[in-house]
Amino acid sequence: MKILSVASECAPFIKTGGLADVVGALAKVLGDHAIECRVLLPLYRQIAHLVEGAEQVFESETRFGGSVRVLAKREAGIDLLLVDAPHLYDRAGQIYLNEQGVDWADNHLRFGLLSWIGARIADKGIAGWRPDVIHAHDWQAGLVPVYARQFPNATQPCVITIHNIAFQGIFPATTIGALDLDPMGFTQDGFEYFEKISFLKGGLMYANQITTVSPTYADELLTDEFGMGLQGVLNARRDVLTGILNGIDTTVWNPETDPALAQNYSSRTLAKKLANKRALLERFNLSGNTSAPLFSVISRLSEQKGLDIALRVLPDILDSGARFVLLGSGSADLERGFLELAKRYPGKVGVEIGFDEDLAHLVQAGADATLVPSRFEPCGLTQLCAMRYGTLPIVSKTGGLADTVIDANEAALAAKCATGFNFAPVTSEKLGDALNRAMALYENKTHWQKSVRNAMKHPVSWESSAARFAELFQDLSER
Ligand code: ADP
Ligand code: GLC
Repeated sequence: MKILSVASECAPFIKTGGLADVVGALAKVLGDHAIECRVLLPLYRQIAHLVEGAEQVFESETRFGGSVRVLAKREAGIDLLLVDAPHLYDRAGQIYLNEQGVDWADNHLRFGLLSWIGARIADKGIAGWRPDVIHAHDWQAGLVPVYARQFPNATQPCVITIHNIAFQGIFPATTIGALDLDPMGFTQDGFEYFEKISFLKGGLMYANQITTVSPTYADELLTDEFGMGLQGVLNARRDVLTGILNGIDTTVWNPETDPALAQNYSSRTLAKKLANKRALLERFNLSGNTSAPLFSVISRLSEQKGLDIALRVLPDILDSGARFVLLGSGSADLERGFLELAKRYPGKVGVEIGFDEDLAHLVQAGADATLVPSRFEPCGLTQLCAMRYGTLPIVSKTGGLADTVIDANEAALAAKCATGFNFAPVTSEKLGDALNRAMALYENKTHWQKSVRNAMKHPVSWESSAARFAELFQDLSER
């Protein structure tokens, strides 16, 4: 079976968050289920090097301005189809934001084209290859099933996956012409959303199946609190909505072989994890006392992640002797807040503003616990990576965080099945309680180490979820 996965990010090539990890890992692991998956991705300037040795499989003038090519290339075990449209993708700045940190003014065209090419490949195939099912990810690929209706042969089933409903791709109605959309779809039952165009809504209305990235988030999406305005649409389509939990790429996230670590280790050689803690303390110029608990954060710094709350309560555990490191970037206020915390606690707090894949691996290996106090979290991958590295996650009880972490309460400790800590609601008081519970458990070496071993054994791979996707694709293609 052949799947065309359409996405705006794909690890290890281009990544701003978990979407990239999922698209890359799933493409590889579907191969184990006799599925040939090709990933359609914009050829951003940041990945221009991929052109080398790539084969041109499509070239045409389009309504999106300029000539557009598609290049095929297999790299890092993934079959890529790269949309080469220099006027839209060959530019400085970030993939969604310009150098001033503002959304690119032509994002509708940039991701409209991506979706249009997806539908075009469904319609006529590309260099003799035609997918059986289309898999669209998030709003950037939301128009794939919408455009598919405008092509005579693009009748394959389409699955859309919601990674984060906070991002919907909403643009003025006046863009309809530039996007070459059929105005007949500009209705409540189509891509119209409060008199604007919503890429995500269009995708949700026209896809055959909707998935999201955890079972709890699938339930939450139906509520006013989490649906972010699309709860009505999702309730109307709830018969085709399912939550399939993300995994992580356990070949990339493997403490036994990870080249970014100071020392490789496994649950059998846990003592070796300490060398990573030492290396991490050194990396951040923190005092070398490895017996104090080391907490960490690796995150986009956005409202979603609840880190403003962490800022308020971290001083309490720092005053009690804990250390803290953060790797992240995003909101200027949060960046400033964490840099100030580092100034206030020299030798105890280390902050690195930026995106650094290797450092993320060292932080996961070197820390004792990691904080993910999100206000909402569709799945979350950092807590999965942390567990695999024997670093206990401290998470809010929402979305995929609720589905993956077993709180170290008395019952779970007695049953020896705890893998971390969770708390609800997302308030500084409740996070503070969870941090204090973590501080206390850290003093109890037996319980702590048992929880670490449990966490490392917790299944975090794609194995069962990839099988569910394979089954879903199979079912749809047979219908
Ligand atoms: P989201 O997609 O909402 O950002 P996830 O937890 O699903 O959250 O995925 C985040 C991914 O991005 C993880 O792989 C995490 O390690 C990585 N990540 C986040 N911030 C950074 C950073 N500053 N440097 C390196 N990796 C980061
Ligand atoms: C989104 C979500 C995150 C999820 C990721 C991958 O970025 O915020 O929770 O893990 O997508 O699905």
